[in-house]
Amino acid sequence: MAFFDYHEGQFYAENVALEKIAQQVQTPVYCYSASALRHNYQTYIKHFKPENSQVCYAVKANTNQAIIGLLAKMGSGADVVSEGELRRALQAGIPAEKIVFSGVAKTSREMRFALQQGIFQFNVESEPELELLNEVALSMGKTAPVAVRINPDIDAHTHAKISTGKASNKFGIAWSSIPATYARAAELAGIRVQGIDLHIGSQLTELAPFEQAFNCLAELTGVLRAQGHEISVLDIGGGLGISYEVDGPQPPELADYAALANNILGGLGCRILVEPGRSMVGNTGILLSEVIYLKRGERDEFLIIDAGMNDLLRPSMYDAYHEILAVEPASGEHRAFQVVGPICETGDTFAYGRQLPPLQSGDLVAIMNAGAYGAVMASTYNTRPLVPEVLVDDDRFMVIRKRPGYDEIIGLDTALAE
Ligand code: LLP
Repeated sequence: MAFFDYHEGQFYAENVALEKIAQQVQTPVYCYSASALRHNYQTYIKHFKPENSQVCYAVKANTNQAIIGLLAKMGSGADVVSEGELRRALQAGIPAEKIVFSGVAKTSREMRFALQQGIFQFNVESEPELELLNEVALSMGKTAPVAVRINPDIDAHTHAKISTGKASNKFGIAWSSIPATYARAAELAGIRVQGIDLHIGSQLTELAPFEQAFNCLAELTGVLRAQGHEISVLDIGGGLGISYEVDGPQPPELADYAALANNILGGLGCRILVEPGRSMVGNTGILLSEVIYLKRGERDEFLIIDAGMNDLLRPSMYDAYHEILAVEPASGEHRAFQVVGPICETGDTFAYGRQLPPLQSGDLVAIMNAGAYGAVMASTYNTRPLVPEVLVDDDRFMVIRKRPGYDEIIGLDTALAE
């Protein structure tokens, strides 16, 4: 099912021509498909059945209230990593009892807020965090439900900056410290251990690292139960990749990933939590941008567009590939462009040597698969207004985050008195 596609030579999001959005909202603008999001969530719960699992959408991938709200309506839980994300999830309608709190640096203030709300689980990442959570919970007369995030030392074969399960990464409890951490947790009156958590990285395109990770969980469940710990929740994290490049590495099917989890972990009598971010929202969004200039360099032809690395950071940060399509492709031979933005850095490059149809100033391009880690990582660098977002649903669309005005941006500063 294609939610972004050409009809009679024009590129559409569902039944709205992208040109119409560009005219009404101006570019650059993120544009999401509500139907694609519903489809992705339904596919998730088809394979991770609500009877014995809970999908906890990793809201960091896209925190727009409309996006989280759509998922909340369908029954999704949330994985959050800050008080801000927790507030966003709650405000969008996700009940606290479906929310897990991950992250290596939870502060006592964040813990207090989460305990007040009554979240489902804290994914604890270090011994000092465990001690602090215990103190905060006791001071409130509460007990914190905890899963310990373990570091299984698994290479997820993904970009180094988004690999999280190796011993050299800052995440989770070192393998050799796991028994001691659970033993300590059992001594703490403010802590109630209920499970094990892991997350080995993002944009995984192979099943094998997941298989290793799930086997670790199964093995540990047996070991920890034998030591007297209650293990009723297994949080398998997120990480399933999406297809960014037709000729690039292709991710496993969701069905195969879920079958692997269910086969290895399904018989342990635990509730399985899964925290998808990218595979939930990645393919539901595009970044729509207008060509400002064509410029011929000594070697390359530059296609200068009005979106920059401040709007979509992934290509400059992770050398990420995003497909770029002409919204109204002109006939004529394709040729190679270096696709760049307006920011004063050479790293502000979306693609090198990209074959595209003839384009001119004023034409629109769609940067594909930008629904995850796109708008959320945007900034106002070079004092460019934060990029707006639009949600398309069938033949309608609405602005779900407006473009701020310059006065709003500059008004955040305090000028010195004369
Ligand atoms: N759970 C935890 C604890 C996480 O840290 C993450 C992502 C997820 C779940 C969701 O992972 P996903 O299903 O999206 O792979 N900005 C980077 C990706 C950073 C991922 C951080 N953690 C990018 O643009 O590629």
